Amino acid sequence: MRTFASVKSNKKHTFMSLLKGKVAVVTGAARGIGKAIALKYASEGADIAITDLAVDDNAKAVEKELAAYGVKAKAYASNAANFDDTHNVVSEILKEFGRIDILVNNAGITRDGLMMRMTEQQWDMVINVNLKSAFNFVHAITPIMMKQKTGSIINMSSVVGVSGNAGQCNYSASKAGMIGLTKSIAKELGSRGVRANAIAPGFIITEMTAALSDEVRDQWAAQIPLRRGGTPEDVANVATFLASDMSSYVSGQTIHCCGGMNM
Ligand code: NAI
Repeated sequence: MRTFASVKSNKKHTFMSLLKGKVAVVTGAARGIGKAIALKYASEGADIAITDLAVDDNAKAVEKELAAYGVKAKAYASNAANFDDTHNVVSEILKEFGRIDILVNNAGITRDGLMMRMTEQQWDMVINVNLKSAFNFVHAITPIMMKQKTGSIINMSSVVGVSGNAGQCNYSASKAGMIGLTKSIAKELGSRGVRANAIAPGFIITEMTAALSDEVRDQWAAQIPLRRGGTPEDVANVATFLASDMSSYVSGQTIHCCGGMNM
């Protein structure tokens, strides 16, 4: 149990937990940002279903770490880019958890290359895994949220979805698509009590960015006013705000989490 003093009223507010009683689904959560979000949600009392391509050692370890918070936690193998796979896993999750309050569309990949050299396969893979996956999960979960008359959908975009980036036409297009999807869902489902927001992380230190050369990483850091790469926990904090009732009047927005890089 935590307490804090409100600056205005000087009264003490008490929270058992920001997400107590809620069920969250986080895709691509065996590592990186998805894992950090799942752990933060569990620490705030949510029951968690995580998905990833396989329930491997990483996913099993995350499942254990989540359960250590005393919440219900289960890892599911599912290819988020596959429509039928997604609908099947959502049915399994609903059967096991009874409701779904929070959806985080986090699964994502990069297949970088300049447009002149980009293959059709590089384009299709990134659009399918990064953008179609979100359609698949939103499509499967919104009927559940509409019935409940409550829900928060969080789509992982990127600063390059707003600004574009040479060498990442496929990735930038998929992440810009996430913003359009978010705004449209917010408009379609707001009257049913369902909110949708996007997070646009900047340069976050995960295995995805570890693949970049030191030179590229130094170039990124030099452009960041806060002069450091972000951590998965930095993004998880924003995702917790958007999942919780603290953001009950926030919908259709893209929150940048980038150390001031994109203003
Ligand atoms: P990561 O590569 O460390 O983790 C991504 C996870 O998604 C992996 O566990 C992977 O197995 C899973 N995944 C991949 N394809 C999948 C599929 N078809 N179905 C289900 N799971 C799948 O990546 P990271 O850095 O944690 O990124 C997470 C999200 O944040 C991605 O959407 C990424 O584009 C986005 N992002 C990351 C940034 C960064 O700097 N790391 C910056 C901006 C956005």
